[in-house]
Parts: sequence; structure tokens; C-alpha cells
Amino acid sequence: MNDLSGKRILLGVSGGIAAYKLPHLVRLFKKSGAEVQVVMTKSAAMFVSPLALATLSGRAVLSEIFPNSASDQESWTNHIRLGEWADGFVLAPATANVVAKLANGFADDMLSVCFLTLRPNKPKLIFPSMDGEMFDAPAVQRNLNVLREQGCLVIEPEVGELASGLVGKGRLPEPEKIFALVCDALSPKEKTLAGKQVVVTAGATREKIDGVRFISNYSSGKMGFALAEAAAELGAETILITGKTSLPTPPNVKRIDVESAEEMFREATRYFETLDVFVAAAAVADYRPAETHQGKLKKSADALELRLVKNPDILLEFGKRKKSHQLSVGFALEIENALENARAKLAAKNCDIVALNRANEEGAGFESETNRLTLLFKDGSCEQLPLQTKREIAKEILKKASFFFRKTSLTSPER
Ligand code: C5P
Repeated sequence: MNDLSGKRILLGVSGGIAAYKLPHLVRLFKKSGAEVQVVMTKSAAMFVSPLALATLSGRAVLSEIFPNSASDQESWTNHIRLGEWADGFVLAPATANVVAKLANGFADDMLSVCFLTLRPNKPKLIFPSMDGEMFDAPAVQRNLNVLREQGCLVIEPEVGELASGLVGKGRLPEPEKIFALVCDALSPKEKTLAGKQVVVTAGATREKIDGVRFISNYSSGKMGFALAEAAAELGAETILITGKTSLPTPPNVKRIDVESAEEMFREATRYFETLDVFVAAAAVADYRPAETHQGKLKKSADALELRLVKNPDILLEFGKRKKSHQLSVGFALEIENALENARAKLAAKNCDIVALNRANEEGAGFESETNRLTLLFKDGSCEQLPLQTKREIAKEILKKASFFFRKTSLTSPER
């Protein structure tokens, strides 16, 4: 149950078309018991009515730092009071301009000043929303990274129809989704995996052909990183063993970078005895070149034959050694006879849960921000998850994992 009773939210609104979604968001906050103070930029008022936001929040909307009249005694110190008052800051939509201002400490309107007066360690959620090209612009990405480094949670915009008529990345998530993320940040969930050790493998392995070439695959590592983040949020001691990726390490996660399947196997086996949950989300190469050439292979003959040998199957090996108190979660990417194959994998690798990904589905797969999975359980049951962000799916999977530890028997997760 999402509950924000008594929480005080400073809601920054900047001038993007997606601001039209804000009245609904304010209503969701208010209905769940939160107090909301809207601070908006001048241009935001072009897209959404300040009167509507004031009426729904029950508080005057603030925009300027200075009072309208000289007799207004306290309003010029509002920004300091508000910084102390708020339990969290939400900026939705966040335009490129306001992101640049906040990243650089500008303080020329109520929104930017409140961002600076907010007490340290209060959650700050930033929801950028703009045209896809603009979002990808190096300056915008740099500014968002600065905000991330300052501890802000930056939520990637969604892909879909944009106000420009184009289809692409840039949409503000729906109010319900923003609301759920704010609930997570302001009312952290129970630490249901506290005291447990969770090991996650992620990303693609690289199998060396010679000094400059390798065999690999398209896995981005996003699913594995989201799983590690979710495990850490639930209080687990989390170890993330990952192939090459430029993804940032989630908070409170121990990251081990590896290249090849053999290396990943070696690192994972170190934890086989102690871990409580093993999540194999890595796309591990099944084969590697039988030998790695020193230096660079020269181009000479018309054809080149590479002999490949089998890599260790990390999940299978863990399955063989797994004790009854340990849990094993595998992933299966299937095209034909998906359910059948995934079920066979669950049995063969002695998994407790297999998350089935059907290849070639829209909104799912390697590079995507979202995914659609079917979870198969050891007791023969299965559950189809809706199309969700990888973050949401990760939470769902880890929640299932924590159910196992609440039950005395490991036969079936409670749902
Ligand atoms: O057999 P297949 O590769 O389809 O199984 C996929 C599952 O097994 C994934 O969870 C993957 O991380 C894991 N796996 C592994 N080591 C391998 C191959 C796959 O851990 N060498």
C-alpha cells in the first residue's frame, strides 16, 4: 500500500508540455495524505494553470523569490522555510534549462533556490522530459550526471509519442508511475533481504580472439544492474559481477568487473558457499575461442577458421552445488517453444525461478529500458508480468525472492 501521509513534498514544475500531467499528480499526492507545495518556473505557467495547482494542493503556488508587496513580511524568506520543511523534492517535468541551472547552482527563482536550501539527504527526484535529441545532447547528459553525482535520482524519460509528433525518448512517465517512485523514495520499503547475500551476474562477456578482437553479444547489462540496485534497496549485501559496460554502479553495491565467462565463473564461485540468492542475468558466451592469439591476427588466407570450446555454465554449476536454503534465479531468452524451453532450463539448472524473455518482442530485450517477462517457478506455476521498466521488474523479482525466506518451505513463492 503506497502511503505518503504526513510527507511534505516540494514539487518543482518547469516549462515543458508534459506539465499538463501535473494536476493529476498533485491529486495523487494529496489523496495519499501528503502536503504539497508547488514551486514553478514562469514558463511552466504557460503549460499548466497555477490556479489549478494551487486549488488542488491547497497552497499558493510560488514562483518568484521576492514578495509582491513590501508589506509581505515573511515571504522573502519562504525559500529557507521551504528547504527545511520538505521531506523531498520532485522536479517534473525537468526541462534542459532547469536541469542546467540546478546542476550549476543557479538561484534566480523560487524553484532553483529551494533546490539549494533543501536539507541534505532528503530525496531529490528529477524527471527530465524533452525531445529525444535534446535529451541525448552531451550538455544535457553532462548536467544530469552532475545531478546524479549530487545524489539526485534521475529517472530516464519514457519512449513513445512526443508533443512534436515524433516518436522517441522523452515522455514524462504517467502520474501513477511518478507517484509510485516518489513513494519508494520517501517511504522506503521494509528491508526484506537484510542479512542476506545476493550475487548478480550482468552484461555480456567478451571472449578474446586475439589481442584486439573478441566475441560478444548485445547485452547492455541494464537488467542485471537494476536487479543489483533492487537487492541493495531491500537491504541485501549485494555483489554485482559484470561484463564490460559503462553503466554507473548502483548505491551500496559491490561491483566486480570481469571480461570473459571464465573470469565471471571464477569470481562467482567465490560466493557459492555464502550467498543466499544467485541471480544469473548475464548473457554469458556459451563458447570461447580455443586459443587466443598473441598480438593481432594477420589477414592472409581467404578464410579463417576459429575453433570454439564450451565455456563453463555458471548457473548450471551453482545449481549442482546449491544447498536447500539457497535460491537460484536464471534468465531464459527464447524464440520458439518459449515456455517449454524455459521450463526445461529451470529443471536442468536446478533454478527456483526462471525469468523468461521472448526475443523480438517490442519494448523488451537487450538495449531496451523496458521488458516483458514471464516468471516460472519450481512448483510448476508461472506468472506473466506486464510491460514494465527493468527497475520495476527487478523489484518484482527480488520481492519474490524475499518471499522464499519468509516461508519455511522453499517449494513455492507466495504471490
Ligand atoms: O542456457 P542459457 O544460456 O540459455 O541460460 C541462460 C541462463 O543461464 C541465464 O540466467 C544466464 O545468465 C545463465 N548462464 C550462465 N553461464 C553460462 C550461460 C548461461 O550463468 N555459461
